Amino acid sequence: MTALLQTDLPDLHLLSRGKVRDVYATSSPDHLLFVATDRISVYDVILNSGIPDKGKLLTSISLFWFEKLKDIIPNHLVTVNIDEMPEEVRQYREQLEGRTMLVRKARIVPMEAIVRGYITGSAWAEYQKSQTVCSIPIPAKMEESQKFPTPIFTPSTKAEQGAHDENISPEKGTVVGKASLKSLMPTISAAQLIGQDLFDRIQTASLQLYTAATEYAESCGLILADTKFEFGLVPSASGGQDELILVDEVLTPDSSRYWPRDQYEPGKGQPSFDKQYVRNALTAAGYRKGLESGPNGNGEGWAIDDTVIEGTRKRYKEAEQMLKSSHS
Ligand SMILES: Nc1ncnc2c1ncn2[C@@H]1O[C@H](COP(=O)(O)OP(=O)(O)OP(=O)(O)O)[C@@H](O)[C@H]1O
Ligand SMILES: [Mg+2]
Repeated sequence: MTALLQTDLPDLHLLSRGKVRDVYATSSPDHLLFVATDRISVYDVILNSGIPDKGKLLTSISLFWFEKLKDIIPNHLVTVNIDEMPEEVRQYREQLEGRTMLVRKARIVPMEAIVRGYITGSAWAEYQKSQTVCSIPIPAKMEESQKFPTPIFTPSTKAEQGAHDENISPEKGTVVGKASLKSLMPTISAAQLIGQDLFDRIQTASLQLYTAATEYAESCGLILADTKFEFGLVPSASGGQDELILVDEVLTPDSSRYWPRDQYEPGKGQPSFDKQYVRNALTAAGYRKGLESGPNGNGEGWAIDDTVIEGTRKRYKEAEQMLKSSHS
């Protein structure tokens, strides 16, 4: 089984290759072709190895959640049916089937809308240092992986498309992708950056989405520890204020931390269905900051062996099956 690392659709205009998705223009001016490849990125580095079918699993999970959550906020999905896509797209059915969506082209709001229900990862690291998470004061005596009294909204900057932390020159200043807005720009809040009204609408929607998704995931035996949403603006049909919609991928193991509920035990890190497994494998293989371009610093990049590829695939697949199993 081979992984699709890169799409090849010569009759379409490629707009961007993100870490995971290839995005194409189509003859339909308001729409984009959004294709999830099998690439995997860890610590913002795209690995040389792909995970066979990962793009299909991500697409299937996003589709599932778009449908489930559409009453909270509209989203960018137009169709996943290749027969309903512009004609020039259909010739590539074999590459695209199961891993593509036609979506509404949006102006992306430059903020990653992160919601956390449990204290883990960078939030746990910050809390141990300063009793805060993204500068929000947190009750004393929390233990690792514990549930917050209520979910918290911790937005961060969104790097320009295709930009990675390591590519930003010192001249460009301090905006480096993933750090919390507060720590990057102590004098500018997220609300000032995108406008208070938009910030409020995104915060409200994000918390509602997270809460609804958590409840559902629980019923499938999954804890949704945290997640990241992206939002965009599209012209409204009525010609009034632009419409805010949910874009990108939603609630996939790439954008979220899913933990098996039956193994949940606060006080330590949790087994997970997300990229933690690959992160651990990479760290064991010698990955560290500064060696992004490869084990020998020669630009050849990082690869993972077949066992780790299969282990990752198994975890993503299991998350998908658990979500989609017992309910319709
Ligand atoms: N409806 C939409 N309209 C326009 N752009 C979108 C839409 N939905 C998602 N995007 C953008 O498409 C890209 C998806 O590609 P991918 O997820 O691989 O990128 P990334 O590497 O995570 O992010 P980036 O390219 O921003 O560093 C993201 O930049 C995302 O913001
Ligand atoms: Mg992305």
